[in-house]
Amino acid sequence: MKKIIIAIDGLSGCGKSSTAKSVAKALNYAYIDSGAMYRAVTLYFLNNHTKLNNIGEISQSLDRVHIDFHLDGNDGSQRILLNGVDVEDEIRGMSVTERVSDVSKIKEVRQALVAKQRILGARKGVVMDGRDIGSVVFPHAELKVFMSANLEVRAARRMKELADRGHSADLEQIRENLAKRDFLDSTRSESPLVKAKDAVEIDTSDLHFEDQVAKILELAKERM
Ligand code: C5P
Repeated sequence: MKKIIIAIDGLSGCGKSSTAKSVAKALNYAYIDSGAMYRAVTLYFLNNHTKLNNIGEISQSLDRVHIDFHLDGNDGSQRILLNGVDVEDEIRGMSVTERVSDVSKIKEVRQALVAKQRILGARKGVVMDGRDIGSVVFPHAELKVFMSANLEVRAARRMKELADRGHSADLEQIRENLAKRDFLDSTRSESPLVKAKDAVEIDTSDLHFEDQVAKILELAKERM
């Protein structure tokens, strides 16, 4: 069976990461969370007071950002390292979540991270989730999935995910943040969130988690 690239894009909070992780585990593929990379850069910019309207400062900061993933346990989960420090939990908090779409719309940030994502996926056998994976990062991915779900379902899932990670959050604030990020991500000029022409759309509002994973595995096997 040939190794393929599986690109999973979609709206904020519709379960892309957990789905992608399970698909990768079932296929023994690498899983790469591209959103975590944008979040890590945002954390660095926040900690270093990088001005988002100053291209010189942005480029200098980007030169100092080194992102790696390390395996966590033996279930294939990964944790992100920012300059050698594990920031996997910190990047999920509201302070990063509120700013990440302002950072991810910057051309220089996207260029740097897309280059890194292409290197990480070069050997195939990879599941990558994000907003522009099928449209920009891997336009020739063998399988492209576009996930969506209604806002209420997404907000409730995100609330639970944050609680499981020990972050306190307010449902209304989460709902507003998801809607705002969808708007900013889909209307930005640099690689906006769009459904690639050849992507298979999966609305997960009424799907069980196991069923959405099974559906993607079935599509993947048809392309191997
Ligand atoms: O996937 P997650 O919700 O963690 O992504 C956080 C943010 O990173 C998104 O709202 C979006 O602004 C940005 N992002 C992006 N392109 C990607 C992945 C994430 O612009 N490929």
